[in-house]
Amino acid sequence: MAGPALAEVLMSQTILPMHANPRGELSAGQLLKWIDTAACLAAEKHAGVSCVTASVDDIQFEEVVRVGQVISIKAKVTRAFSTSMEISIKVTVQDMFTGVEKLVSAAFSTFVAKPVGKEKVQLKPVTLLTGQDHVEHNLASERRKVRLQHEQTFSNLMKESDKLDDPHCDEEEGRVSTRATSVQSIELVLPPHANHHGNTFGGQIMAWMETVATISASRLCGRYSLLKSVDMFKFRGPSTVGDRLVFNAIVNNTFQTCVEVGVRVEAFNCQEWTKGRGRHINSAFLIYNAIDEKEELVTFPRIKSISKDDFRRYRGAIARRRIRLGRKYVTSHKEESPLCVHWDVSNQVALSDDNVEALRKLAAKTGWVVTSAVEKIKIYTLEEHSVVSVWVEKHVERSAHWAYLHLSDFTKRPLWDPHYTSCKIVDWVNEDDQIYYITCPVMNGDKPRDLLLLVSRREPLRDNTAYTVALRSVLLPSVPPSPMYVRGEIICAGFLIHPIDGSTCTVSYFHQMSSSILPYFAGNIGGWSKSIEETAASCIKFLERADDDHSLISIL
Ligand code: COA
Ligand code: ADP
Repeated sequence: MAGPALAEVLMSQTILPMHANPRGELSAGQLLKWIDTAACLAAEKHAGVSCVTASVDDIQFEEVVRVGQVISIKAKVTRAFSTSMEISIKVTVQDMFTGVEKLVSAAFSTFVAKPVGKEKVQLKPVTLLTGQDHVEHNLASERRKVRLQHEQTFSNLMKESDKLDDPHCDEEEGRVSTRATSVQSIELVLPPHANHHGNTFGGQIMAWMETVATISASRLCGRYSLLKSVDMFKFRGPSTVGDRLVFNAIVNNTFQTCVEVGVRVEAFNCQEWTKGRGRHINSAFLIYNAIDEKEELVTFPRIKSISKDDFRRYRGAIARRRIRLGRKYVTSHKEESPLCVHWDVSNQVALSDDNVEALRKLAAKTGWVVTSAVEKIKIYTLEEHSVVSVWVEKHVERSAHWAYLHLSDFTKRPLWDPHYTSCKIVDWVNEDDQIYYITCPVMNGDKPRDLLLLVSRREPLRDNTAYTVALRSVLLPSVPPSPMYVRGEIICAGFLIHPIDGSTCTVSYFHQMSSSILPYFAGNIGGWSKSIEETAASCIKFLERADDDHSLISIL
C-alpha cells in the first residue's frame, strides 16, 4: 500500500487507562507528546536530518477523548523556510460505534533542522499537490510573522496596559491571592525522554509542564481542572539527557470561567546544579476550565496581586488574552461555512426579523469579559469555540432616538468609520429595512473589500427594549461580486441603543467577527482594540457634534 503523501505522517492511538487523567479522559500531556512526535517525524521526513521543536503555537482542546476511543493524528509540513519548517497537526477522534469523526485539536508547530556537528542546512521547498496545500503554504508565512513578532507585540501591549490598570482593583471584595497555587516540581531527563542524539523531546517537556500547571489550577478551585488551550510553547534552548528540569507554576489571572497558569522551566546540568544557576528553556501559559458536580463551568474568583511579580503576571495574562483573541483569526485555517443568505423578496419579513433577533441573542449571551475601559468607551469580548465577538459600549451625550436615527442611516457611516469608504442603498425594502452596497479601504496591500448588507432597524416596543439596528450580509443577484473587490461577509453585527435619560444614551456596537474583517487586524494584532477604540471615539464625536445633516458634513 502506498504511504502517505510527502512530508506527511499519520499516527493512530487507542486511549488506554495509562494515557488518562483521573476522570478517565485522555490527558492533555499525553496528547502533547503524541502531537510533538508526529510533527517531528513529518519534519524529519521532509528535512532528511534530525529536527528539534522550536515552538508550538496556540493549541485549543476542542473535544474530550475517553479511554477506549481511538484518535488519529495527521502531521504535515505546510512550508519550509530556511532552516525551519511549519507543521500543521490535526487530531481527530472517531466514535467506534457511530463512526462519527470529531476534531480534538488543531495546532501548528515549528521545527528546526539540526544535523549533528554540521553547518546549518537550507531546506528544500515543500511539494504542493492540492489547492488546499497552496492555501496553507501562503497562510504559513502570515503565521510565521505573528509567531516571530509575538514577544514584541506582548511588550507593546504591556506598555499600553499601564494606562488601563485600576490601582484600586485589589481592594474589591472577594479577590483571592494566588500564593496557595504555587507548585514546584523536578524531573531528571533520562534516555527514554530524549531522541537518539540525546536531546530532550519537546513533547515530554510540554507534558511535564502540563502536569504542574494542572495541579496549580486545581489548587485555585479545589477541583480537577481541564486544559482548554495553551498559549505558545517556545523552546528557547536545548536540554539533554542528564539535565535536571525544574518546573515552577502559579496562577496568574482568572477570566470568569477560565484561569491562566504560567509555567517556567529551567534546566541544570551537573555543574549548573551545584552553582544553582540554570538555563531558562521554556515558559508557557495554559488556560483551564473547571467543572462542578453538575458538570457546569465553575466561575473563578478574581485575583489579588500581593507582590510586584504577581501584578506584572496578572497584567501579562490580560495582554496574552488580547493577543489570543486577535490571533485566532490569523491562525485559523478553517474554510468558513457559507454565511450569506440569499435575499428572497417572498421571505423578506422573516429574514429581517431573523437579522434583528440574531443581534439581540448575541447581546444577551453570557460570558462577555471586559478587555479595556477608557473614558467613555468599554470593550468586551466573548470567546465561543472558534468565534470571537466584540461589544463596544459608548456613552453618548445625545438622546437614544437621535443616535438611532443617525446610526441606522448607513449612508452616514463613512463620515465616522474609517473602515467604510462608501455606502449606498441598492434596495429600499421598506422604511426599516434597506440593503446597502459598501466599499472598504485597502488594508495590508490586499484588494479593497466590498459588502452587501441588510440593515434592519426597530424602535423599542416596550420601555425595556433597546433601539436596534441589525446588519448581516446577503446575496443579491443584481450586485454580483466584482473582480475589483474581495466580497466580505458579516454574520451578525449592529447597534443596540439604550436611553439613560432624555439627553444621554448608551450605544452598544456588537460584531461577531469573521475572517472578512481579519485584514484590519492581521497586521496589527496587538493594536486591534486600539483601532476599535479610535473608531468608537469617532462615532461619539459624530453623534455629539451633529446638529443636522448640514453640520454632519462640516465636522469632517
Ligand atoms: N518559533 C518558530 N521559529 C523560530 C523561533 C520560534 N520561537 N525561534 C527561532 N525560530 C526559527 C527562525 O525563524 C529560524 O528559521 P529560518 O532559518 O527558517 O529562518 C530558525 O528558527 C533558526 O533561527 P536562529 O535565529 O538561527 O536560531 P536561534 O539561535 O534562535 O535558535 C532554536 C532557534 C529553535 C534552534 C533554538 O532556540 C533551540 O535550540 N531551541 C531548543 C530546541 C529544542 O531542543 N527543542 C526540544 C525541546 S528542549
Ligand atoms: P513572567 O514572570 O514575566 O510571566 P517567566 O518566564 O519568568 O515570565 O515565568 C513564566 C510564568 O511561570 C510566570 O508567569 C508564572 O506564572 C510562572 N512562574 C515563574 N516563576 C515562578 C516561581 N518562582 N514560582 C511559581 N511560578 C512561577
